[in-house]
Amino acid sequence: EEKQPLYRIGFSQCSMAGPWRQAMLAGMQKELSFHPEIELRVLDAQDDSRRQQAQIRELVQGGVDLLIISPYEADPVTPAVEEAYRRGIPVILLDRRTASDQYTAYVGGNNVEVGQTAARYISRVLRQRGNILEILGTPGSSATAERHQGFAQGLSAYPGLQVVAQVTGDWTVRTLKPALTKALQAHPEVTMIFSHNDGMGHGAYEVCQELGLTKRVRIIGVDGLPGAGEGIDLVQRGVLAASILYSPGGEEAIRTALKILHKAPFNKQNTLGTIVIDSTNVLTLQQQNDKMASQQQDIERQQGLLHRLQQTYASQQVVLNWLLIT
Ligand code: FRU
Repeated sequence: EEKQPLYRIGFSQCSMAGPWRQAMLAGMQKELSFHPEIELRVLDAQDDSRRQQAQIRELVQGGVDLLIISPYEADPVTPAVEEAYRRGIPVILLDRRTASDQYTAYVGGNNVEVGQTAARYISRVLRQRGNILEILGTPGSSATAERHQGFAQGLSAYPGLQVVAQVTGDWTVRTLKPALTKALQAHPEVTMIFSHNDGMGHGAYEVCQELGLTKRVRIIGVDGLPGAGEGIDLVQRGVLAASILYSPGGEEAIRTALKILHKAPFNKQNTLGTIVIDSTNVLTLQQQNDKMASQQQDIERQQGLLHRLQQTYASQQVVLNWLLIT
């Protein structure tokens, strides 16, 4: 028979596109596999703030016990999130923030720190002198504003380091390349690119290849995902000089949601740590990731085995009952 879920969690995701968002969802599902009493309803705003606003209201109207939101842009969704919060629905902001402090908890990396870490790393690599090009994410995303702020703050300690050009991407390479090509041609003094994520950093590398600049220009990205063509792999192949790890936090979001739903103590700010991935630690990280992936496979095999054992047990129960009756 179908059991009613004990709790319903609504998740308004700014976009499903790309491996980072997929890793976030996979993390949530992994954690939820231990909690069959919870139903997760996911709506994908496809990088559209108006759609996301409407979807947040749709989730609230449909009845949820808790909302998780990863806003595309901070300002446009703030009223809908505040409405939900004021109705008494706990709200977890995941990875990106709204423009308000009316929320229950935040789960994600410290994006100011991400920017500061990039600045410090660059100062070391460039020996405190050089010209930098910054590639920004979507202008209205909190992660863009915070990474930029931390980067500028971090660089202010080194007068010999300047940002001489900025190019605004949209977290993807969709619109990046023509503007970046122009900026690099106009600024032959650039020797370092700080890209707000690895995906745009990868695109920047391709532009540098086309312009014959891969020897002169080094690129730093953010995310550091495992998997072919992702941050760790790009660092290992020398496409990126470094990537600042930024965890998707799906597991942590669900764990925080459970604490809130169970009225257990929880922290309002749940900051996920970051590290620099570069040639000095990339192999170790890759090995750790491989190991974790194989352990995860073992866990899934054991879950399958448990499930089969349960079924065998249930059918034996039926036989046993039948024998007892007759
Ligand atoms: C994925 C993404 C990541 C980035 C994060 C910032 O949509 O662009 O690459 O680190 O969002 O919020």
